[in-house]
Amino acid sequence: MSDTDRKTVLTAAQPTGILTIGNYLGAIKNWVSLLDDHDCLFPLVDMHAITVPYEPADLRKRTRSLVAQYIACGLDPEKCTLFIQSHVVGHTELAWVLGCLTPIGELQRMTQFKDKTAKGAPINSGLLFYPVLMAADILLYNADIVPVGEDQKQHLELTRNAAERFNHTYSETFKIPEPKIGTTGARVLSLQDPTRKMSKSDDNQGAYILLTDEPDVIRKKIARAVTDSGSEVKSGPDKAGVANLLSIMSGFSGKSIEEHEAEFVGKGYGDFKKAVGEVVVEGLRPIREKFEEVEKDKGYLDGVLKAGAENAQKKAYKILSKVQRKVGFVERFR
Ligand code: TRP
Repeated sequence: MSDTDRKTVLTAAQPTGILTIGNYLGAIKNWVSLLDDHDCLFPLVDMHAITVPYEPADLRKRTRSLVAQYIACGLDPEKCTLFIQSHVVGHTELAWVLGCLTPIGELQRMTQFKDKTAKGAPINSGLLFYPVLMAADILLYNADIVPVGEDQKQHLELTRNAAERFNHTYSETFKIPEPKIGTTGARVLSLQDPTRKMSKSDDNQGAYILLTDEPDVIRKKIARAVTDSGSEVKSGPDKAGVANLLSIMSGFSGKSIEEHEAEFVGKGYGDFKKAVGEVVVEGLRPIREKFEEVEKDKGYLDGVLKAGAENAQKKAYKILSKVQRKVGFVERFR
């Protein structure tokens, strides 16, 4: 594939701490599979992270940690652009321009905003503006494809509207990005309540497995995972717990769910859970080891972030100067 045929993929996450196997199997593993055939950008959106209460020192630590986790999961910085949002000039500049085209009502309608305001805590205007900054993250690189979870669908719709509005008001500038919702990744559920998504904000630590959990912790969490009545190791609508473990196992082993079901014909949940535990332990081992190695190598991480920001900045300036010219700003003398 020639360079010009390559589509640009961009997706982002807030640095919230150590990722779970749900983030890995459901999202990052898919991103890794896109690296060879796409131009991939992965900003770490620290500016989005300050829309809610937080500790500055903690944010700095979590941001660096997330870069190390990404690399450990296979987002090879030689094959993609890993960078920190606040390192690149253009995200807030473009967000401002897009914001001046976005009616307040559209922002107030966002479910995520409504959910947050419904909790009654004081709201800052950054939280309302959040989706416009997200639109800028995407449009600043003319991304073709944006892989996101179902919860971001509405924000992607707003991004597409903003791009269309800009193109219509000024002239054709932005590509209209395609959301790639949910993709092919597994939807990993809570180990304690398989009707809910696995989330590290769960009060019960047994509900999730972190990328850095020690082998014995992993084995224990899986041994205590909720299974279903009956004793057959089979995926099915009334077997949400077993189905979840099968899908986790298959995510790490690369084998199909059916192959794993076949392995456990005539065997019980005990044997099954032991095997799942081992597959997860072995699957996470290289990730945890790489994470530990990379996280303490400050020089290496700094180098990755410097190169990532430089590469992203080059692309960002191209679009930003086009936008600034079209909206009537006087050209800047460099
Ligand atoms: N709002 C997204 C989330 O919480 C994070 C995000 C910010 C994002 N900018 C983005 C996702 C650009 C995709 C593309 O998950």
